[in-house]
Amino acid sequence: MRRNIVAGNWKMNKLFPEADDLINNIAEQLRNFDTSDVDVIICPPFPYLELVSDVSEDGDFFTGAQNVSKFENGAYTGEVSATMLKSLGVDYCIVGHSERRKYFKETNFDIAQKIDRLLNEDITPIMCVGETLEQRENEKHFEVIRTQMEEGIFHLKADDMQRCIIAYEPVWAIGTGQTATKEQAQEIHAFIRQLICDKYNDDVAQEVSILYGGSCNAKNAAELFAMPDVDGGLIGGASLKSKDFIEIACSFQ
Ligand code: 13P
Repeated sequence: MRRNIVAGNWKMNKLFPEADDLINNIAEQLRNFDTSDVDVIICPPFPYLELVSDVSEDGDFFTGAQNVSKFENGAYTGEVSATMLKSLGVDYCIVGHSERRKYFKETNFDIAQKIDRLLNEDITPIMCVGETLEQRENEKHFEVIRTQMEEGIFHLKADDMQRCIIAYEPVWAIGTGQTATKEQAQEIHAFIRQLICDKYNDDVAQEVSILYGGSCNAKNAAELFAMPDVDGGLIGGASLKSKDFIEIACSFQ
């Protein structure tokens, strides 16, 4: 059965000493909570992966990366391969975040290759999908998400699809304070699960955790996570404060 998951995406924030404080605070606070019904994942910038991975060895959380190269290894200056991530103890990796699609021109086909690299190394991809405000206003959101799923991840066989996590992150909700309503999130999550069911079968669809991301915080997490197809969250800004992040991780009823 699919797991509840809360993942913190630190994005390009924090200097090394601050990251050190934050991860040790998170580890400390997690010790006081029963985390048996939720997997907590921390996705720091690349230079802090080793730090987070080291702390995670005695902690109740996993280490995730924010990106991976679509190439295997070799002469690709500035890139970080899936094998490198694996060697640092990384278990999860975000792919296809809307910021990477927008600023680094990542396509669904790039994302498909990255997912293959990660699965080869037994790293769980957290694949992001989501529509822009303009696409939603033009009622294109279902179509956009269908295409992102079809081109980005539906090349996988059923066994591999079951190993992946999907994050629905409406672009208009990211960093804006304008969270999707619980009904809007549920509608899209159910749609994504139905797409997986139609492509594979219901067993596969029921196995895949689907996270919500976009201005999710300690105040609104519980009502979002209570929706039947919302299996947790991918948290940006609120993951940078240990107290808020822990409250979110404890928002499952
Ligand atoms: P915010 O929580 O800051 O809106 O960011 C969400 C996000 O992009 C997580 O990947």
